[in-house]
Amino acid sequence: MKILITGGAGFIGANFVYHMLEKYPDYDIVCLDKLTYAGNLSTLEKALKNPKFKFVRGDIADKQFVDKLFEEEKFDACVNFAAESHVDRSIEDPQIFLITNIIGTQVLMDACRANGNVRFHQVSTDEVYGDLPLDRPDLLFTENTPIHTSSPYSSSKAGADLLVLAYYRTYGLPVTISRCSNNYGPYHFPEKLIPLMISRALADESLPVYGDGKNVRDWLYVEDHCRAIDLILHKGRIGEVYNVGGHNEMANIDIVKLILKKLGKPESLITYVKDRKGHDLRYAIDPTKIHNELGWLPETKFADGIEKTIKWYLENKKWWQDIISGEYRNYYEKMYSDR
Ligand code: NAD
Ligand code: DAU
Repeated sequence: MKILITGGAGFIGANFVYHMLEKYPDYDIVCLDKLTYAGNLSTLEKALKNPKFKFVRGDIADKQFVDKLFEEEKFDACVNFAAESHVDRSIEDPQIFLITNIIGTQVLMDACRANGNVRFHQVSTDEVYGDLPLDRPDLLFTENTPIHTSSPYSSSKAGADLLVLAYYRTYGLPVTISRCSNNYGPYHFPEKLIPLMISRALADESLPVYGDGKNVRDWLYVEDHCRAIDLILHKGRIGEVYNVGGHNEMANIDIVKLILKKLGKPESLITYVKDRKGHDLRYAIDPTKIHNELGWLPETKFADGIEKTIKWYLENKKWWQDIISGEYRNYYEKMYSDR
């Protein structure tokens, strides 16, 4: 098998590259990544030493480039992680989200069609379902929950999902979609809640909690997500959507307090700041379908996963310090200075 992994220099894509290289040593893995602010070649340092791995820099929305790559490489499958992924950035400047997340997906699928209907998997998000109320713990997102988005980011991911399903129905392209809850683990970019709080707490800097901190997310260790995508790619039913989540709902403020406790830092670092516009209240995934059909279950408990994650950030300071010392510093100033 020769598999194209797009967005493999980002957080989940890189974890998936390592998962695949280890589990399928006979597969050829090609990573296509534009190396935006969120992509980091140093993340793929170990993979680059593997003769079964190849990195190509390019834009999934660049049709000429993508068509040529597909003609040259003759892929058997494409797993699309490449995306603009940060909700706050989408609120500031939506356009690149539509270009990468929607047009990019269309360009990849057209290349799949033109090259003998290459198997296509779209990595999507639970955010396409909108949010759930905080006082109804009985409600969970199923694959039949209507699409109802809140942010330009989630709208662009929903647009891509609809297009993927349209390519299945209209052209018979062999597609699947996974919609996962919030991931955490190694190589998570420090603009996102957990790595942001770890890196700032270690530097004794204030921890910006949006609103009252009571919004709830359903956290899943990244390796569990990678195993789910692997299963769907190999055994999932074509044309189907699979929800992926860990039954691990936590309020943001509880995560922040837990991180402070683990690092031995004071809660006085917590600063409540202006809320995110359109802030989704609660996400919660019902993963019954992937469990019943493919036997998937999360393996890492949050208590262990957060321990491993904090350890990773302590042992890999250079990785994230290089990121936060560059252009990211201007981003932080821009996004948080008037909150
Ligand atoms: P990320 O922002 O860490 O990485 C995105 C990667 O895509 C980067 O390497 C970036 O350089 C690359 N990229 C961006 N635009 C590109 C383009 N036009 N062409 C080629 N490469 C491009 O994102 P992530 O958190 O790893 O998320 C990966 C995917 O998983 C996304 O599709 C996201 O919507 C989805 N997802 C993320 C989560 C989460 O909790 N992080 C949960 C569910 C689903
Ligand atoms: O649910 C899946 C989604 O999870 C993915 O599709 C997205 O790509 C991914 O970024 C993530 O989206 P969130 O918006 O949930 O993640 P983020 O880490 O940005 O925020 C998590 C929660 O923490 C959210 O309620 C907002 C809050 N938050 C975030 C930041 C960055 C804060 O309180 N302060 C912060 O500084």
